[in-house]
Amino acid sequence: MERFKVKDTALAAKGHMQIEWASKHMPVLNQIRKRFEKEKPLKGLTLGACLHVTKETAVLVDAFLAGGAKVALCGSNPLSTQDDVAAALAEKGVKVFAWRGQTTEEYYWCVERVVDQNPVITLDDGADLVGTIHSKRTEALSRIKGGTEETTTGVLRLRAMEKSGALKYAIIAVNDAYTKYLFDNRYGTGQSTIDGILRATNILLAGKNFVVCGYGWCARGIAQRARGMGANVIVTEVNPLRALEAAMDGFRVMPITEAAPIGDIFVTSTGNVSVIRKEHMQKMKDGAILANSGHFNVEISIKDLEELAVSRRNIRQNLDEYTLKDGRKLYLLAEGRLVNLAAAEGHPSEVMDMSFANQALCVEYLAKSEKMPPKVYSVPKEIDEAVARLKLEAMRIKIDELTEEQKKYLATWEMGTT
Ligand SMILES: NC(=O)c1ccc[n+]([C@@H]2O[C@H](COP(=O)([O-])OP(=O)(O)OC[C@H]3O[C@@H](n4cnc5c(N)ncnc54)[C@H](O)[C@@H]3O)[C@@H](O)[C@H]2O)c1
Repeated sequence: MERFKVKDTALAAKGHMQIEWASKHMPVLNQIRKRFEKEKPLKGLTLGACLHVTKETAVLVDAFLAGGAKVALCGSNPLSTQDDVAAALAEKGVKVFAWRGQTTEEYYWCVERVVDQNPVITLDDGADLVGTIHSKRTEALSRIKGGTEETTTGVLRLRAMEKSGALKYAIIAVNDAYTKYLFDNRYGTGQSTIDGILRATNILLAGKNFVVCGYGWCARGIAQRARGMGANVIVTEVNPLRALEAAMDGFRVMPITEAAPIGDIFVTSTGNVSVIRKEHMQKMKDGAILANSGHFNVEISIKDLEELAVSRRNIRQNLDEYTLKDGRKLYLLAEGRLVNLAAAEGHPSEVMDMSFANQALCVEYLAKSEKMPPKVYSVPKEIDEAVARLKLEAMRIKIDELTEEQKKYLATWEMGTT
C-alpha cells in the first residue's frame, strides 16, 4: 500500500512555514487542538478526508493528529492542492495523495487511495469521497460510522442520496452551520474570489461591469466585495426572493442574456450547471473574462466555449484565451474551476478557523456517539454556538447577557402593551 503521493517532498520546509502562518490566524481551532491533545477523543480512529489541501486544512489535520487519529487525505479538486503543504503533511506521517494539476483519472485514483486506508469517519468537500464509497468501494461501508460535508454542493448531493434511499451512513452537514456558511461562504468566498481574479489577470476592477451569477451566500459575498473595489455589479438569479434581496441591496438585477453583452467580468457561484453557455458567449464583448467560484467546473460550459472557439492559448498562469470565429476573444480563468482556490489560496485562515472548528467538533461528536441512522444531520446547535463564542473570545469581543427579567419576558405571552 502506498504511504503517500505528492508532487515534491523537497517542498516540505516551505509547507511547514505556510501551515505555521495559517495556524497563527486560527485561534479557535488551536484551542480545540490543545484540548484534543489532552483528551485524545479520536484515539485509534482513522479519518479519511477529501478536502482542498491547503495550509488551513493542514491545521485541521494537526488537530486530528493531536486527538490521536490517523489521517488519510486527498484533494477535493484537481487544481486546488498547495504542493508545499501536501509535502509537509506527508512528512508529518499523513497519508496524503494530492498534487496540483491532476487529470480526472488521477483525482479519483487519489480518492480511492484514501478509501484503502479503511477510514471510520469521512470528511468531504463536494461528496466525491462519499460518492466513491457508495458506488465503487461499497466494501468500505460496513466499517464507516459517519461523515461530515463541508460545502453546499456536497450537501445537495447527499440530500439527493438520502431522498432516494442510497445514503448508507450518517453525515453531518457542516456547511449548514451558521458559523460556517454565514462567514466562510460569504466573506471567505467574497474576498478570495476577488483575490483569484486579480492574481490571474491583474486587471482594474473599478469602473468595470462585473456580473455575478447567483445571489446565494457565496455570490453575495463576491458582489459586495466587487462593489467595494468600485465595479458596477450586476446580479443574475433564478430565485425571486434572492433576486429581490439583490435589488434591495442596491445591485442591478437582470437575466444573463441581458447581462451577457454588457459584462466585462462574469463570475458564477450557483452550484448549478451551464449557467453561462453558448448563447451567452455568442453575445459577449471582446475581452470578456469568465470565472467560476461554485464547487464544480460545470457552471460555465467549457464544452460550448471550446465549440465556439477556433483556437486557444495559455496567456499566463490560470488565464486561457479563446478566440472565436468572428475574432472576439474570451478569457477563461483557472479552467473554470473554483477561481479562489485554483488561482489564489482559498479562504483566509480566519474564516476557515470557524469552518474547521465545526469540522473538528463534528468529527469528535461522531466519534463519541453511537452509530446514527443514515441521514443528513444538522450541526448540533451547541457546537455552532460554541464556535461563535470561541471566535468572539479570540477576537476579544464581549457581548451582553440576558437579565433574569429579560429571560422571563421572552418566555411569557401574557405581557403585551403596557
Ligand atoms: N469557492 C469556494 O471556496 C466555495 C465556498 C463555499 C461554497 N462553494 C460552492 O459555491 C456554490 C454556491 O454556494 P452557496 O452556499 O452560495 O449556495 P446557495 O444555495 O446559497 O446559493 C446558490 C444561488 O444560486 C442561484 N442559482 C441557481 N441556479 C442559477 C442560475 N442558473 N442562474 C442564476 N442563479 C442561480 C440559486 O437560486 C441560489 O440563490 C456551491 O457549489 C458551493 O458548494 C464554493
